[in-house]
Amino acid sequence: KRIAIFASGSGSNAQKIMEYFKKSNDAEVAIVLTNNPDAYVLQRADNFEIPSHVFDRKEFRETDDVVQLLKNLQIDLIVLAGFLWLVPENLLKAFPNKIINIHPSLLPKYGGKGMYGDKVHLAVLENKELESGITIHFVNEHFDEGEVIQQARFKIEATDDLEMIKFKGQQLEHQHFPKVIEGLIKKMKTI
Ligand code: GRF
Repeated sequence: KRIAIFASGSGSNAQKIMEYFKKSNDAEVAIVLTNNPDAYVLQRADNFEIPSHVFDRKEFRETDDVVQLLKNLQIDLIVLAGFLWLVPENLLKAFPNKIINIHPSLLPKYGGKGMYGDKVHLAVLENKELESGITIHFVNEHFDEGEVIQQARFKIEATDDLEMIKFKGQQLEHQHFPKVIEGLIKKMKTI
């Protein structure tokens, strides 16, 4: 099976996924895509000798180029790992139930448009939450709203600051995301 990763930034999750599937017989990361030509994830893809593609808003939203590219590469699963743009309808239609996302909160809490990165954790801190976590979910036409596949949670101590909450969430993301992807890939194999 073949995986495509979409990421807009650093790509630490993408890194974990590329590492994990480098050793797998079930799947490989075939391409990394980004809207951000300066995203560090491009360097990471290079390091794994995985091809990448940079697109702009017009290409993504107004053409079928990205869909065609993914079809040509016979992609089975699309993984959004810190990808900040809404997925357009043509892509959703071309890959029904084949696009997943990771979000650094216990959705439906702290999700939706504009809720990404530090903003999520700051809101969690402000509301004095006793726990937070991560959500891996299917992608639909709304931000952070598709069916939940897996959640994992961590406790927030009174002394935890933004950095600590971020760190705890990231640890959980790195631990769970590759495994959830593997689970979905294995399910596909039996169909
Ligand atoms: C992660 O926290 C993910 O949940 C969110 O964006 C962040 C990406 O981090 N969607 P990285 O680029 O994988 O380091």
